[in-house]
Amino acid sequence: MGELVAEKHVQYVLAAEKRKDDFESVLMEHLRMNGAYWGLTTLDLLGKLDTVDVNEVVSWVMSCQHESGGFSGNVGHDPHILYTLSAVQVLALFNKLDIIDVDKKACWILCFLTIMLDIVNLQNEDGSFSGDIWGEVDTRFSYIAINCLSILHHLDKINVEKAMKYILSCKNMDGGFGCTPGGESHAGQIFCCVAALAITGSLDLVDKDLLGWWLCERQVKSGGLNGRPEKLPDVCYSWWVLSSLIMIDRVHWINKEKLIKFILDCQDTENGGISDRPDDAVDIFHTYFGVAGLSLLEYPGVKPIDPAYALPVDVVNRIIFSK
Ligand code: FPP
Ligand code: ZN
Repeated sequence: MGELVAEKHVQYVLAAEKRKDDFESVLMEHLRMNGAYWGLTTLDLLGKLDTVDVNEVVSWVMSCQHESGGFSGNVGHDPHILYTLSAVQVLALFNKLDIIDVDKKACWILCFLTIMLDIVNLQNEDGSFSGDIWGEVDTRFSYIAINCLSILHHLDKINVEKAMKYILSCKNMDGGFGCTPGGESHAGQIFCCVAALAITGSLDLVDKDLLGWWLCERQVKSGGLNGRPEKLPDVCYSWWVLSSLIMIDRVHWINKEKLIKFILDCQDTENGGISDRPDDAVDIFHTYFGVAGLSLLEYPGVKPIDPAYALPVDVVNRIIFSK
């Protein structure tokens, strides 16, 4: 079996940040905030976060905040809860959620209060969450709201009971969860629902054996995991499926060695980066979820990541459990 070419991946992420004009970067322009979260978390998991300029990143993140409190994917774009979580996660990585700059104290407090109010306003009467003012509802947004508010220590500002009730209304007969009630079970949505239940201490509401069975059925012959029956394996499902299995305590139901081999086979060992499947083109999204998957698999040299918050364990301990 090959090895993780960690240094090559670090170079790939650092170079991706600088390549602003190529095809991939242009496609990614509107979701650069997510790219920042994927790239910077990869660097942190590989012990290399100190190679980036903190002030430059933080001031760019703050330039994407809107009056409503939410963040956009880049300067000049519309805000959406998908980017607000990435912004909060990046600030968390750099330990910028604590007010350390005395002069800017008032302005930071205001920033965090507006983020909180923006998210609270996105909760609907039935407990679900919309992603922005246009109103689309999805269990991804429930997870994001709960993760964000937990990081900001404001979970008590929403109706958590109704939020859980809505998530449970998206549970299917096969034990999985979809994006809205009746929606097909999908490993990405399962991650969102299980993680939201984990953060609020509600995992007892999940049928762990039934869901664990559906999730471990995602492992195919090559060792990789898919997101739904009959689909091809994909490195990013190493995260969506594995984190869910860990949260419900059923990770021993899959073959970890074979999954490690599948992820390592998706590396570009020459130029760095990880792809969705062996021999495909690499991208920053799959590089992050490949490294994060290896972290969940306790691969040597990769820092541990929290399966619910999707942030390094030391960051989560500092923010969530130290207060
Ligand atoms: C699959 O997407 C993944 C999902 C549906 C879950 C997405 C979750 C979030 C955006 C919440 C934030 C997540 C983290 C880790 C902080 P896909 O479009 O690749 O699905 P496909 O494989 O069916 O195309
Ligand atoms: Zn993928």
